[in-house]
Amino acid sequence: MLQKDFLWGGATAANQCEGGYNKGGRGLALVDVVPAGKNRFPVALGKLSYKDLPADSFYPGREAIDMYDHYIEDIRLFAKMGFKCYRFSMSWSRIFPNGDENAPCEEGLKFYDEIIDEMLKNGIEPVVTICHFDAPIGLMEKFGGWKSRQMIDRYLAYCEAIFTRFKNKVKYWITFNEINMILHLPFMGAGLSFKEGENETLIKYQAAHYELVASAAATKLAHSINPDFMIGCMLAAGNYYPYSCDPDDVMDSINKDRENYFFIDVQSRGYYPSYALKFFEREGINLDMTVEDDKLLRENTVDYISFSYYSSRLTSANPELTDKTAGNVFATLKNPHLKASEWGWQIDPVGLRITLNSIYDRYQKPMFIVENGLGAKDTVINKETGKELTPGTEEFREAVKAGLATVNDDYRIAYLKAHVQELMKAVEIDGVELLGYTPWGCIDLVSASTGEMSKRYGFIYVDKDDEGKGDLARFPKKSFDWYKEVIATNGEST
Ligand code: BG6
Repeated sequence: MLQKDFLWGGATAANQCEGGYNKGGRGLALVDVVPAGKNRFPVALGKLSYKDLPADSFYPGREAIDMYDHYIEDIRLFAKMGFKCYRFSMSWSRIFPNGDENAPCEEGLKFYDEIIDEMLKNGIEPVVTICHFDAPIGLMEKFGGWKSRQMIDRYLAYCEAIFTRFKNKVKYWITFNEINMILHLPFMGAGLSFKEGENETLIKYQAAHYELVASAAATKLAHSINPDFMIGCMLAAGNYYPYSCDPDDVMDSINKDRENYFFIDVQSRGYYPSYALKFFEREGINLDMTVEDDKLLRENTVDYISFSYYSSRLTSANPELTDKTAGNVFATLKNPHLKASEWGWQIDPVGLRITLNSIYDRYQKPMFIVENGLGAKDTVINKETGKELTPGTEEFREAVKAGLATVNDDYRIAYLKAHVQELMKAVEIDGVELLGYTPWGCIDLVSASTGEMSKRYGFIYVDKDDEGKGDLARFPKKSFDWYKEVIATNGEST
């Protein structure tokens, strides 16, 4: 049995659902300049400047699903499913529009006050990600993003504003979404861009160090404002499997796992692991790292470890093996034992149990699965007639209005069911400590990797397409009732 207060819920991020990019005094953020289409990856990787994009580029995050104007409706739908918690992120540039103002923007704070009050009214515990791929552009312009140590103070000013304002309303915080993403999507993760000939590895690890120090300093600040705050780090998780029992493959998988665990090793144990120091030595990487940094890291470790899990990963020391999975930021070798989503992300529920056990064995701290789910194309139907409905048509709108539109997303239910069953085994059989489970994109939102709306994760459908068309109407899919039952039975009925 899971504990009675297990936090069932869902997760989103401002950069992918909130929209309202120019409302309420908000300043421009990273997400506002990352386009959909073929230029998305080059910009997210920091290889193409957003300033060089064609004038007709489409930026799906600017309006997203306009939760800015729909949050009451959305939170009420979450409450209908019985959510115990809701993980969302605050938009940094709503609080400090340019990033370097002397005082926070009251309108931004008020906006989150209203959202949180609506959640509390509905018995939903807020879980807040402080920064999810959307630092203010002003700070990118001024400091080159997390390349600069000065980002630490700006981040802390933001933290102080929200910790103080919400100290009696929010308990669970996450300092950075998927901090290891800095190595994979450096612009999206940390506002980094690179010039020809620059040492990218050095820049990424220096930025990582500043984020790690900022995270530790935020943890210290948080606990001084409210000692009951629970501060978490977050990892884009998923263990690497060795391709074979060849010892070289096994060693390779350990090394690959360490690239990701490195961040959590520092945040959870409070010091740089020896394998990382050796790596820096070999690469000739000399980080700007002070005695005060070291002290901060050691004295301010996180209270819990949160992570996203979509899939396991596969690696081999044999360079001749090149058959990789498609579509995923963490493209790895294809595991012949696994099926894949329409976007090529491999599906491995047991991998969730493996990951939970690995993380718990490593740190013995409470964990929180804050993202998991299946991105899939959905077909809307009329639930009475079974007829397919085409978005944009009168028939579609009429069905939505009459409460007859739905999606029979059995594939999503199957994915989530298998993952919930594995997380229950990890708790009940293996004894890991798990605080909660918040499937990703509980309401359809913009995909981070592709910028598409058609890569849907939600229990709730949102009428919007990849070109930004649609009237933003929301309605439950079949998985909505399924998840409601899972929550009502505390996971016993899947
Ligand atoms: C995680 C991110 O990496 O995966 C989310 O924290 C993201 O922001 C999610 O949306 C799913 O990825 P995608 O690319 O399918 O949106």
